[in-house]
Amino acid sequence: MTLLPHNHQMWAVIGLYTGREDNIFWRRRRGDENGRVEAASAKALSAKECSPLGKDIIHSVTNPIPRLTGAIHIYGGDFFNEPRSEWNAETLVEVPYDVEKTLRLFEQSNAMLAAS
Ligand SMILES: [Fe+2]
Repeated sequence: MTLLPHNHQMWAVIGLYTGREDNIFWRRRRGDENGRVEAASAKALSAKECSPLGKDIIHSVTNPIPRLTGAIHIYGGDFFNEPRSEWNAETLVEVPYDVEKTLRLFEQSNAMLAAS
């Protein structure tokens, strides 16, 4: 399962209690009229590790293992109602964040795990 590049517009702290996640951190391309991003760095998190995320962070998250990854997320604001962005997986163009699409992705991924 991979979450598209997205921002939060608020600080966050992510702490894993099981599984793995691979974060790619992105930065905006200077002067790009479509708000495209480019990869800047990466960080792998394992169980018992945490990562603080600054207010301006853009990241994508992949679970690279064939089972659930569990984490506690603390956000410095109203995560579900803050207007924010995500970036198209193929073009890396900035678009408004679609929380319903993300929730469907979690449901589909959980169903696939339950069926396997
Ligand atoms: Fe995130």
